[in-house]
Amino acid sequence: MPRAKTTNSPRLLIRSSSIHAAGCYTLDAIPRGRRIIEYDGPRLSKELADERYADRIVTYIFGFGDNGAVIDGFGTAMFLNHSCAPNCESEERGGRVFVRAIRNIAAGEELLYEYNLYDADEADKADCYCGAPQCRGTMFSDTELERRARLAKRKQAKKAETAKA
Ligand SMILES: C[S@@+](CC[C@H](N)C(=O)[O-])C[C@H]1O[C@@H](n2cnc3c(N)ncnc32)[C@H](O)[C@@H]1O
Ligand SMILES: [Zn+2]
Repeated sequence: MPRAKTTNSPRLLIRSSSIHAAGCYTLDAIPRGRRIIEYDGPRLSKELADERYADRIVTYIFGFGDNGAVIDGFGTAMFLNHSCAPNCESEERGGRVFVRAIRNIAAGEELLYEYNLYDADEADKADCYCGAPQCRGTMFSDTELERRARLAKRKQAKKAETAKA
């Protein structure tokens, strides 16, 4: 008798999300620790990516590694939204980025991870609408928030100095 085909890859579905536009949902239960999908796409320099996305509010750029390279998301993983109460995390392995479950995920759940956005322009906004009780209100990382606070303080001090002169 033929055996039922088993696969390690859960079936994923892109459909509308209450968080933002489209999101990525799993049709199968996923155990904690399972690597689910690769965040794949062309590799670009940060400069080229900034240029490409200059006038776009939605970004599919994933910054990784130490050399400023980014992935311009292309494929299913580009639809994962950010949440401050995520069920997944991203991990880098040998120049590739994967999404992994950080808890058991039930069939039907939206797959979500923390974007931890960084190195953004001063004018950029990244307000979070994840709706989690512990929502931080932003998709920026803590380090990026500290960097931005330092910049704002420096700017304020410069302004005060100019006003005095
Ligand atoms: C990689 S895309 C995710 C897929 C996107 N929802 C779509 O339909 O194309 C990233 C963009 O989704 C939006 N987004 C994702 N998570 C969000 C959140 N928690 N709050 C607000 N916007 C979010 C932002 O506009 C962000 O630039
Ligand atoms: Zn949030």
